[in-house]
Amino acid sequence: MRRIGVLTSGGDAPGMNAAIRAVVRKSIYHGLEPVGIRRGFTGLIAKEMVPMGLGSVADIIHRGGTILRTARCPEFMTLEGLKKAVNNLQEAKIEDLIVLGGDGSFHGALKLANEGIRVIGVPASIDNDIPCTDYSIGFDTAVNTVLDAINKIRDTATSHERVFIIEVMGRRSGHIALEAGLAAGAESILIPEVPYDLEDIVTKLCRGQARGKLHSILVVAEGAVNALELGDRIQETSQMDTRVTILGHIQRGGSPTAVDRIRASQLAAYAVDLLRQGESHKMVGIQAGKIQSWDMAYVFTQKKRPDKKMMELANILAI
Ligand code: ADP
Ligand code: F6P
Repeated sequence: MRRIGVLTSGGDAPGMNAAIRAVVRKSIYHGLEPVGIRRGFTGLIAKEMVPMGLGSVADIIHRGGTILRTARCPEFMTLEGLKKAVNNLQEAKIEDLIVLGGDGSFHGALKLANEGIRVIGVPASIDNDIPCTDYSIGFDTAVNTVLDAINKIRDTATSHERVFIIEVMGRRSGHIALEAGLAAGAESILIPEVPYDLEDIVTKLCRGQARGKLHSILVVAEGAVNALELGDRIQETSQMDTRVTILGHIQRGGSPTAVDRIRASQLAAYAVDLLRQGESHKMVGIQAGKIQSWDMAYVFTQKKRPDKKMMELANILAI
């Protein structure tokens, strides 16, 4: 029976379990034999492979994290590590593989594909920074987690008439900050892709205060600025009572939203279909509401920028 491997790699993302479930159930439905590879590329090298039956993915659709575990694997980036992984896949008679992960994981996936394994990538990263696809698994849950936290912070910010700086994840990308910031009605949103001016921020805060604003919320991506330093500088320059909250890994966990569960299921099922058709070297995704696929090599030539219009709108609404 044709074996189809599935692994999760890089940072975990809520909805990965829904995707694993879809890979397993859709494969079995079509008479394929799904095999789970534990701890991403680390498990490929260490031969941590487990056959997955229908029951192995029961009761996981609502859970965050990944039942297969995930890892970052420097050894896989060496030629020796890659060869080991390919040999192990061949020995296990796995010719088809689905890699759930981010941009980094797909670079690894493409190397496997170039060694003759049929590989399809499914975008899963809370950062939503993967080119071509508008959406990656976990992003919607992460944005909602941030929003929930900001709603709570807003209560105390109002009571104490304070400025709050909320740092969210995103070392190189500001998608979480932008969408959560717009949804939360933040006064300022700082993201790595757009330079900022401290004076402008302070002027805006003072203007708001003069108009009687009781509090201000600034949402900053971790890669945009050091939130603690920014807090100190705002406090010094504006004399406003300022606090900093770093949300951290809370954003990576939690029960996936309906959107993440549905899209994860759709994307993973589509990945199985592509493998059944003999496709490889591709990443699936959603663009303009349509599920589609792109050559991974092409994806790597593209850059995903945050939505400029959304940023402009957030600024206008926070006037
Ligand atoms: P993500 O997939 O979330 O972007 P990383 O960038 O940490 O996460 O990548 C996950 C893993 O993918 C790395 O630990 C490594 O094993 C593999 N990987 C990343 N880049 C490459 C590369 N250029 N070549 C081979 N493997 C890579
Ligand atoms: O790529 C997802 C992400 O959560 C980033 O937003 C964050 O910068 C990074 O992973 C944190 O990585 P780690 O799991 O090593 O703490």
